[in-house]
Amino acid sequence: MAVFLKGASLLLVPSRRALAALPAVRLCSSGDQYKYIVVEKRGEKNNVGFIQLNRPKALNALCDGLMVEVGCALDAFEADGDVGAIVITGSDRAFAAGADIKEMQNRTFQECYSGNFLSHWNRVSTVKKPVIAAVNGFALGGGCELAMMCDIIYAGEKAQFGQPEILLGTIPGAGGTQRLTRAVGKSLAMEMVLTGDRIDAQQAKQSGLASKVYPVDQLVSEAVKCGEKIAANSKLISAMAKEAVNGAFELSLAEGNRLEKRLFHSTFATEDRKEGMTAFVEKRKASFKDQ
Ligand code: CAA
Repeated sequence: MAVFLKGASLLLVPSRRALAALPAVRLCSSGDQYKYIVVEKRGEKNNVGFIQLNRPKALNALCDGLMVEVGCALDAFEADGDVGAIVITGSDRAFAAGADIKEMQNRTFQECYSGNFLSHWNRVSTVKKPVIAAVNGFALGGGCELAMMCDIIYAGEKAQFGQPEILLGTIPGAGGTQRLTRAVGKSLAMEMVLTGDRIDAQQAKQSGLASKVYPVDQLVSEAVKCGEKIAANSKLISAMAKEAVNGAFELSLAEGNRLEKRLFHSTFATEDRKEGMTAFVEKRKASFKDQ
């Protein structure tokens, strides 16, 4: 067993045989050893973290190992001072066709409940840096939920979103009933969750689930461009803006407004707020230092 130091944390890298015997949940691949995803930095300044789900034969079904790797890649991008935004995408055919049904098929209630099944997926929604989902093809079940854990959804023209768990005798388990309802409203969310019917990219945009629709072959580059735009701003202030918007989903209006006000006041403790306003007054482009 090899031992590596990654940042401040100790990583134990077991042998291949030991690895196969362990539940994927506990393990993190490092760098180029990812099995289920491709991880790169993109954009002219290499400041957009890029994660591509890469299980094409299973339409990117989100097995435990894949989601553990996504969590590790997000940890790495979160710690990377050059990265100002992250894009998660799949293939032209599928963003992700849901949690891995073959992996779930024989799970028991006891295992799910005691192991808090799927709880590690939450890492996607706790990242401080802005995350953009670039969705081509199927975003079904956990795939739709993964997209909704991201901050912005861009859809390719042929994207299809759905929560078909009801057809499998279960219900969405990674936030679908909550995030979809907040995104598209009760009637459409109920219809999708109760019938398993899908909506297309245009309907996703009309209902507020996606913010933009692009031709399939332009989707990823447009998502990276959006990431570059975000990464050009102060990372510190972007994190505060993200925290404030997310407050709208969890707090009352009064509490949310109080959070926003406190975060707004906090920006006045930063050098970037001073630089941003000074640059405006001096009619020049701001140069943020993330401080
Ligand atoms: N889990 C495991 N394998 C999956 C999968 C999934 N969610 N979705 C697709 N696959 C596999 C198929 O089994 C098939 O593998 P084999 O070639 O080994 O048989 C391969 O991907 C290609 O799939 P299809 O042959 O079915 O392709 P298709 O074009 O005919 O249909 C599809 C595409 C409509 C997406 C169909 O695959 C499908 O309905 N998939 C399941 C969608 C689903 O129900 N998702 C919800 C999962 S439950 C969940 O996500 C719970 C949660 O809330 C977290």
